[in-house]
Amino acid sequence: MRQPLYSLHPRDLSPHVLAMVGLPARGKTSIARKITRYLSWLGHPTRVFNVGNYRRNLLGAHHPANFFDPQNREARRTLDEMAMAALDDLLAWLGGGGEVAIFDATNSTRARRQIVSERCRDKGYPVVFIESICGDEAIVETNVRETKLRSPDYEGVDASEAVRDFRARIAHYARAYETVTDLESSYIKIIDVGRQLMLNRIHGYVPARLVPLLMNMHVAPRPIWLTRHGESIFNQQGLLGGDADLSPHGEAYARNLAAFIRGRARELGEASGMPGEPAWIPDDVVVWTSSLRRTMQTSRPLTQRSISWRALDEIDAGVCEGMTYDEIRLKMPHVFEARSADKFRYRYPRGESYEDVIQRLDPLIIELERQRSPMLVIAHQAVLRALYAYLMDKPPHTCPSLPIPLHTVIELIPTAYGCEERRFQLGPEVQSVGEAAIAHP
Ligand code: F6P
Repeated sequence: MRQPLYSLHPRDLSPHVLAMVGLPARGKTSIARKITRYLSWLGHPTRVFNVGNYRRNLLGAHHPANFFDPQNREARRTLDEMAMAALDDLLAWLGGGGEVAIFDATNSTRARRQIVSERCRDKGYPVVFIESICGDEAIVETNVRETKLRSPDYEGVDASEAVRDFRARIAHYARAYETVTDLESSYIKIIDVGRQLMLNRIHGYVPARLVPLLMNMHVAPRPIWLTRHGESIFNQQGLLGGDADLSPHGEAYARNLAAFIRGRARELGEASGMPGEPAWIPDDVVVWTSSLRRTMQTSRPLTQRSISWRALDEIDAGVCEGMTYDEIRLKMPHVFEARSADKFRYRYPRGESYEDVIQRLDPLIIELERQRSPMLVIAHQAVLRALYAYLMDKPPHTCPSLPIPLHTVIELIPTAYGCEERRFQLGPEVQSVGEAAIAHP
């Protein structure tokens, strides 16, 4: 029987609307973006419609706090119009094949939520409200300083004046704020960034995927280092997969890596903490490897204990394991051509596709989100492409050509709206035979 070219996933979802609820500076946009990144990575077209952007695009950026006063009828009408323009576009996008649309606004009154619910219901789209409630003043303060002061709303405005104005804006919204009630709608309430999660009438695939993500989301800054194992004997020969040992070059990389992580963890821990009280020390680094020898051997010189996950094993090349790319081209030209035509979805006979790799990494992503310590992930080219695509919010179909060279540490530091990236090449550059040709066609 012919191997199916495309794998089966719970795709083709009926459209869903997620509508954010909360006062300004409660992390709504950050949550909306994290949901978008996660669902898009899992293969579900997801898009955020941010009402603040509609206001800035249509009316310009600078509106003083009194523009947001619920008693200011003129301004209220304009803001409602902006919200409806965003909702029109959202519904049109879902009508055109989108799966999950996120309506990113304060939606802080029952009247507004009723309009949103009715308009979505008319189209047959279920709505879940995602309310972020935060009573922790320190978190709100950090949010204001890290995101709002960088917003175009306050470009060129003195920082203390901007904070004062933004606090006045929050106070205006607070006067009219009504929390979502049980009778009103389905909801997920996130209290103090995941300290508590409350669910009401949550059914179906999309909301069920979101709960573990939202439960484990946090704002503690910490680095995530991604690296391939050191060069293996198979890398030297250009052979795919297998379970080979490290080459002498690979052993040297493992030693360099241990020294690098120790120094870098110390440096960043000190920079993030208080004087004399680092945010973390090198021994706090959580190390993950795959279950294959080359990643475990790479972790050996590290002083931290490592955890090995089968989910981190390299893409299974099925009948092509142990072959070179040239051999596949000559002996199985149909495989070579089909994979080159759609490297993301092509599943090796009796092996895996990149799409399959993403599905098996899903539980690990939740675990990675949960961890608050710095993390070092020692894995393989295809698996790291998939992890990197998630963390850097790259479209999943671009995974197969993302550059993840050997002997390079990719440092990613999550921020409110993404990740900061740095790359460190440790020791001489090494490239496995034949890799460049297929990785960057
Ligand atoms: O060549 C090293 C390797 O990790 C192989 O084991 C694996 O099959 C390959 O990279 C994945 O990269 P690509 O998807 O570009 O073939």
